[in-house]
Amino acid sequence: MIELGVNIDHVATLRQARRTYEPDPLWAAMEAELGGADGITVHLREDRRHINDRDVQLLRQTVQCKLNLEMSLAADVVEIAIKTKPAQATLVPEKREEITTEGGLDLTQNQEHVAETVRRLKDAGVFVSAFIDPDEIQISIAGSQGFDAVELHTGGYANASSDVLDEQLHRLKRAGQWVREHGMRLHAGHGLNYRNVTPVAGIPLMAELNIGHAIVSRAIFVGLREAVVEMKRIMVAAAAASEQPQPVALSGNSGILHYERKSQRGK
Ligand code: PXP
Repeated sequence: MIELGVNIDHVATLRQARRTYEPDPLWAAMEAELGGADGITVHLREDRRHINDRDVQLLRQTVQCKLNLEMSLAADVVEIAIKTKPAQATLVPEKREEITTEGGLDLTQNQEHVAETVRRLKDAGVFVSAFIDPDEIQISIAGSQGFDAVELHTGGYANASSDVLDEQLHRLKRAGQWVREHGMRLHAGHGLNYRNVTPVAGIPLMAELNIGHAIVSRAIFVGLREAVVEMKRIMVAAAAASEQPQPVALSGNSGILHYERKSQRGK
């Protein structure tokens, strides 16, 4: 069944606005889990502008579903990831001046360094994903560098005007096929919301969507647990309606990754 990773960075952003203790991302993680989140996603940025080292350590100890650590290739962050051993790490590009992650990681650059980082994380038992644009060359390099999964950057689709929306969706579908042909798990994220998520959740074998801004925004009005319930309901309905094969489930932050090989379909 398709999985939802809830990105709670914005909860930490609100806390940091006053440099106080609330709202605590740990409370958010618990509420999201109670709403049916399959994963909790946090980005430990090099400038620690929202999520900090303490959050990552405590989330690692308390999150019962999958903790997905978004991270750059910065040496100190890689060390933290290797020590902390989240269930999953997603390698992302990072620029200090950006408001949020812009564009995917360019895997044509620093190929040896990226491959070495993937290897070190995998040796530590971490499932490793690459956040990349839906381009054939990027997907092919991700396959050769040993990534377990690819998270397709859906920003182009999310920001598309109606005249190019179909084209952008087609691009994601084609890229999804390449990801699977290279034997990697298919993830997607960025800019997905309650209105645009259905076609992406319906892409064949889409295994995981990581969504933050839309869920945290809705949570202001309906509460985080309910916001997660609503998003999960839309995603699961979309995946079921697409009549596509269902992906293998992957969850758990206990150090052991649980694979459910049976399809949910037909049960
Ligand atoms: N996936 C990745 C790799 C991201 O960097 C982000 C943004 O932090 C997201 C997903 C979630 O994007 P959004 O907040 O637009 O839902």
